[in-house]
Amino acid sequence: MDYKLKVAEVVSQAVDGQLSVDEIVTKIEVPKSLELGDYAFPAFVLAKVLRKAPQMIAQELVEKMDQTGFEKIEAVGPYINFFLDKQAFSQDVLGQILDQADHYGDLDLGQGRQVPIDMSSPNIAKPMSMGHLRSTVIGNSLANILAKANYQPVKINHLGDWGTQFGKLMCAYKMWGSEEEVKKDPIGSLLHYYVRFHEEAESKPELDDQAREWFKRLEDGDEEANFLWKWFREESLKTFTKVYDRLGITFDSYNGEAFYNDKMNEIVDLLEDKGLLKESQGAQIVDLEKYNLNPALIKKSNGTTLYMTRDLAAALYRKRTYDFAQSLYVVGNEQSNHFKQLKAVLKEMGYDWSDDIHHIPFGLITQGGKKLSTRSGRIILLEEVLDEAVELAQKQIEEKNPSLANKEEVAKAVGVGAVVFHDLKNERLNNFDFDLQEVVRFEGETGPYVQYSHARAMSILRKAGKNLSGVQVNLNDPNAWETLRLLGDFDQIIKRAVGTYEPSVISKYAIHLAKAFNKYYAHTKVLVEDRELESRLALVQSVAIVLKESLRLLGVKAPDEM
Ligand code: ARG
Repeated sequence: MDYKLKVAEVVSQAVDGQLSVDEIVTKIEVPKSLELGDYAFPAFVLAKVLRKAPQMIAQELVEKMDQTGFEKIEAVGPYINFFLDKQAFSQDVLGQILDQADHYGDLDLGQGRQVPIDMSSPNIAKPMSMGHLRSTVIGNSLANILAKANYQPVKINHLGDWGTQFGKLMCAYKMWGSEEEVKKDPIGSLLHYYVRFHEEAESKPELDDQAREWFKRLEDGDEEANFLWKWFREESLKTFTKVYDRLGITFDSYNGEAFYNDKMNEIVDLLEDKGLLKESQGAQIVDLEKYNLNPALIKKSNGTTLYMTRDLAAALYRKRTYDFAQSLYVVGNEQSNHFKQLKAVLKEMGYDWSDDIHHIPFGLITQGGKKLSTRSGRIILLEEVLDEAVELAQKQIEEKNPSLANKEEVAKAVGVGAVVFHDLKNERLNNFDFDLQEVVRFEGETGPYVQYSHARAMSILRKAGKNLSGVQVNLNDPNAWETLRLLGDFDQIIKRAVGTYEPSVISKYAIHLAKAFNKYYAHTKVLVEDRELESRLALVQSVAIVLKESLRLLGVKAPDEM
């Protein structure tokens, strides 16, 4: 709920509208300590307009203010501090949460408009990198967050499934490959053929000619080439899907680079018609000097089209197909330039909707402070990471709650959830270090800690065994205030996450709320028969609802017991 807005309205009224509500909202602060109130307005921003000392302004305004809905409003030096009426606030917030359950915090920013999210997008016949994994997890969470704000996300896996490398791959497979091998370990065997091709081609340049021949056959629709291409793609996708399944992530489209094969001519023609194509050393380019960018390569001298050309075709296709409100690309920071060029070329083509295209970059995962790369041998195999995380979770459950009924299922939710949460905990552009022990801990700022707090709330509710529907909340406990305030912030948190494309806004909030709730629980006995029992349970249930919903937005499960 937007209580800030309410404060701004009160201020605006007191200054007879000399400063608009919108202006005032931007000036309102949240004091560091709750003792200084819930909101503060620095009166010195009015000093110029009212030509008085800020202290005076603060004093005079407070006298004029309508105090309904507030416990008190007081002037302290040049500040006006606002204390919300805790009773009214708790009735309002907890009432809404119990009533709306997992719809609490829903917004209508998107009005049902579609938002394609280009995410994951690994390359066929190559291992999925940590970058692709981050893209998958961040993209999925953004889809959940946007859906909560009533956008309609479309999760697109823009597979790297086209290019001259397929010629090499086919050539290598025909010479050294076997069907069983590929079926058994698609990515491993295909990668192996590809590497071997490069090794042997060094001394046998005729191999490169054969590879070019194979790629030409593929482009010309030759039956065998097409069959192999499809098969490599399918087998690779099976391996990727294992990872997606474990993360519980699905896609709405697997239209990859190949999908745009028959849509490239139109782009080249459009660029030509608009007089944007230039020749440079035999290649066709679009000059982007006025954007301070390198030229965009559209067609190589041998006539083959490029990554950029496909992305231009894809952007246009998505605009036509989804009439998007925004179009997102969750791709590593190292491709920033590519997406700047993409937007610039679309702008040059006269498409104003290029402003609605957003590259959502992210940083690297490091280990021991070093970049993970396939070449250095420092690859973390994702499947193994998830297996180990689940194993560690299982151990901790065994220690803490050996009699738990569905231990295995819970361990999966906790182990996988821990890895996902860790990825989404830091601002996405930051690089972060991956230390499995750290990730799966039940204490500290981890996914399991939030899950555990949710399970604790659920266990209190089970013990109480009360139906709370229609309960009259009457909560007068200062210990509960921090938790209550946070619960009331939820919709503003969603709004901020949408505006910044930052799942970390949600994960940080979830940690914050879990901490506040655990502090409350350490100070206050919830299960005591007195007049406030049901109100306390309403608070506990609200915490459970909002923690579970926060985790869901991140793509993390919240077991009822652990
Ligand atoms: N396959 C590319 C890679 O692995 C990522 C594709 C990102 N999406 C896009 N539309 N360019 O680098």
